Amino acid sequence: MRIIVIGAGGTIGSAVADLLVARAHEVLRASRSGDVEVDTSSPQSLQSMFSRIDPVDAVVCCAGDATFGPLLDLTDDAFVSSIRAKLMAQVNVVRFGVSKVRDGGSFTLTSGAFASQPWPGVPVVAMVNGAIESFGRAAAMDLPRNLRLNVVSPPLIEETAAKMGMPGQGAISAAVNAEAYITLIEGNETGTVVYTAASITLA
Ligand SMILES: NC(=O)c1ccc[n+]([C@@H]2O[C@H](COP(=O)([O-])OP(=O)(O)OC[C@H]3O[C@@H](n4cnc5c(N)ncnc54)[C@H](OP(=O)(O)O)[C@@H]3O)[C@@H](O)[C@H]2O)c1
Repeated sequence: MRIIVIGAGGTIGSAVADLLVARAHEVLRASRSGDVEVDTSSPQSLQSMFSRIDPVDAVVCCAGDATFGPLLDLTDDAFVSSIRAKLMAQVNVVRFGVSKVRDGGSFTLTSGAFASQPWPGVPVVAMVNGAIESFGRAAAMDLPRNLRLNVVSPPLIEETAAKMGMPGQGAISAAVNAEAYITLIEGNETGTVVYTAASITLA
């Protein structure tokens, strides 16, 4: 399959892209500094990217920032910028990408476990992640041409925990997390949210 991975330079996205290549898929690596340049927080940039690429079998998005911080410290901008950069960015990946995905192809978005298992100090992140998961379940029903839409909800990833100075706090490695994306891309599921904290073994 020919697959575009947005956020392919990141902790989660690079593991997904590398595993797809290892399984003999053709991978286009996209990000603000990737081989395919895009800023997902800009609708114009996303539309431009999809107009430049040839059709694909799958679109994966592993990009999008949301603001951490306790509720009473959060500014209006923390809410608005997080909605734009993580939620609407991925909503727009689907809206603008539909015409470039071949019949039966798929979208796989990324939320995060704080949607259902929050810690203190993550209300914006949890809100945005929950909205991505609700969007994925609902929007999957409206897609034409047997296109599929799923969401992967990762826990704190081991490599990220180590970078944050919290070694041992990560639930699974980026490589194990990546297996969920491959299962969804290569499978037939649609409208699902996969919580990867319970690790997945590829068939
Ligand atoms: N890591 C975790 O533990 C964890 C857990 C749960 C959920 N998540 C979620 O998973 C996603 C990926 O996390 P990560 O840890 O892999 O992040 P990361 O290591 O910071 O990588 C982010 C990737 O996305 C790209 N990117 C960032 N902003 C972008 C934009 N506006 N437009 C296009 N590309 C953009 C970055 O490349 P450029 O800088 O070149 O654009 C990079 O390739 C995030 O939404 C995060 O909230 C992560």
